[in-house]
Amino acid sequence: MEVHFPMMLYGGDYNPNQWPREVWDQDIKMFLDAGINEATVNVFSWAKLQPAENVYDFSELDAIIEKLSAAGIKIILATSTAALPAWMFRRYPEVGRVDEQGRRHRFGQRHNACPHSPVYQKYSARLAGKLAERYGANPNVICWHINNEYGGECFCENCAKAFRVWLRERYHTIEDLNRAWNLEFWGHTVYDWDEIVPPDELGDNMGGDDTAFAGLSLDYRRFMSDSLLANYCAERDAIRQFDPDTPITTNLMSTYKGLDYFRWAKEMDIISWDSYPAYNTPWSYVAMRNDLMRGLKGRSFLLMEQTPSQQNWQPYNSLKRPGQMRAQSYQTVAHGGDAILFFQLRRSVGGCEKFHGAVIEHAGRSDARVYREVAQLGHELHALGDRLIGAGNPAKAAIFFDWDNYWALEYTSGPSRDLKYVDQIHQYYRTFYDTHTPVDLISVDADLSGYRLIAAPALYLVKPGLKEKLEAFVRDGGVLVTTFMSGIAGESDNVYLGGYPGPLRALAGVWVEEIDALAPEQKNGVRFADGTESGCGMLCDIIHLETAECLGAYTGDFYAGTPAVTQNAFGQGRVYYVGTQLDPDGLRRVMGEACRAAGVERLIPEETPLEVAVRESKTERFTFVINLTKEAAALPASLTRCGADFFTGKVPQEGQAVEPFGVLLLTQPLEQA
Ligand code: GLA
Ligand code: ZN
Repeated sequence: MEVHFPMMLYGGDYNPNQWPREVWDQDIKMFLDAGINEATVNVFSWAKLQPAENVYDFSELDAIIEKLSAAGIKIILATSTAALPAWMFRRYPEVGRVDEQGRRHRFGQRHNACPHSPVYQKYSARLAGKLAERYGANPNVICWHINNEYGGECFCENCAKAFRVWLRERYHTIEDLNRAWNLEFWGHTVYDWDEIVPPDELGDNMGGDDTAFAGLSLDYRRFMSDSLLANYCAERDAIRQFDPDTPITTNLMSTYKGLDYFRWAKEMDIISWDSYPAYNTPWSYVAMRNDLMRGLKGRSFLLMEQTPSQQNWQPYNSLKRPGQMRAQSYQTVAHGGDAILFFQLRRSVGGCEKFHGAVIEHAGRSDARVYREVAQLGHELHALGDRLIGAGNPAKAAIFFDWDNYWALEYTSGPSRDLKYVDQIHQYYRTFYDTHTPVDLISVDADLSGYRLIAAPALYLVKPGLKEKLEAFVRDGGVLVTTFMSGIAGESDNVYLGGYPGPLRALAGVWVEEIDALAPEQKNGVRFADGTESGCGMLCDIIHLETAECLGAYTGDFYAGTPAVTQNAFGQGRVYYVGTQLDPDGLRRVMGEACRAAGVERLIPEETPLEVAVRESKTERFTFVINLTKEAAALPASLTRCGADFFTGKVPQEGQAVEPFGVLLLTQPLEQA
């Protein structure tokens, strides 16, 4: 089902259970005054709902739900299963995870239940079912929020047993498993499924991402992602027994490494995620993380959490400057957000998040800056109504994002420790962002037929079928951009023999003979055909042209003059191969050429530091213009032809100043666009 709510949801995590009831009325008045129409409740209340093994008590939650419902505030109801009651740990220590150092965790913190603990499985699903039975029919409960920020790993005996079952289903025979993991390396051959142990630091993990057997570690990540997903599905199914249609979600964390969100998305009705950039996170990175969340289902999503002001868990928790929260919220909406929700509505009095920003701060006053800014945005979103709900973000270009690849690439030992998957994706993303070119982030399993250009940076792991799919895409006229460290290994991290980039070799028309790694202080350069040069570093492929032509050659070292960037005609299309990490100017140049070759157009031709993004509903086109820089910027001429600004009602003038954190939302009927 395609899920959309009838209006922009605006609100966030609310924990009235931490407060005496006198405070609730005051809070609700302040929410309504600020245009808040939603509260996410019951995220961490398991110990109150089930104070002892056979006792359930919903009286406080009844009162909370009644009060919010009476005020007309919509409720996203969480299932409370992300932090376990103390009695459960005490009676059943198996519910606690065993970490990578073999230590069994006891009562404390959160997000630490063993996914294969039968006790956890039983009680988490039971609680979800009881909540659905009690509240599922309440029309104010508009969405279920299962657990909270699933993540992490467990290495306990129950998980080891389940892992062996998972492996048997995948490999069928022990011989196939030995081959898949190449266990003859270091003589690790196993003869019995029970000899397999999870890759913790007492086993094959050598600390962090260092592993003796990447095939094993990779499978353990797949298994853990599936295991936590099974916990999610168990709660979801328990809810569905009593509530057949209220949408169900869980809050994701975008580029979070531990879970294969494309697999998760298939089980979720609507995507929601939590956005917590640091004071120095590039805005292009924040935009990319939103686009990835839109890419999971190829449609709009909910921003489940952001802070209205500061965080508490970063090293430096700077305030959002005046106007920043608003600008950042519109950036989220511009990239597909259909809800703007905060963590949290009221700041807690104790615990490690008492310095985390909130709509209502410790002073509890409505004349506070943060509250006033929240109220301003609330009224604006209210005025927007449902015009943007479900509107799409049309794009002709896409970047592959793939968790298997993320894991495998970062498990490799060599050639460079600086090779980080999300960084690579972001470098390519930024070339689109800086040139105001819409781009999707998609799974390698996605349908490519709507795209003209696919960028596949560091496509290290090439699964069966992907080669044929990419060949068909390019043969039919598509443009593919791929890079160093692509086409290296198959599903189990064994190398494709016969020369890099393995299955992509015919597409790229090159043979990569060696890969040089440069330390951060070492640089090389690339000279393009027109004589211009760009710096490059980190990795340098030593490339032989097979059918490709050279676009740029190295300027230094023993491979000076050999190809660094190439282009190959393949069928009706083209493949660009970027054999080194180019400096931003060089990469932008190559991507500009690839976009031109593909017919991928920019939204506006002008250079401007303003962020520009477009959403389209069935009837309207929305052009977002956001200044996320510290300086005022002049409005480019082409943005005066995108309709009137929703906030001022006026068609903007060429050259008009857009102040720092200024936002224009230009709207125009689709037929005029
Ligand atoms: C996460 C959690 C919240 C809260 C915030 C604080 O997103 O889901 O419960 O801890 O972080 O930033
Ligand atoms: Zn476990």
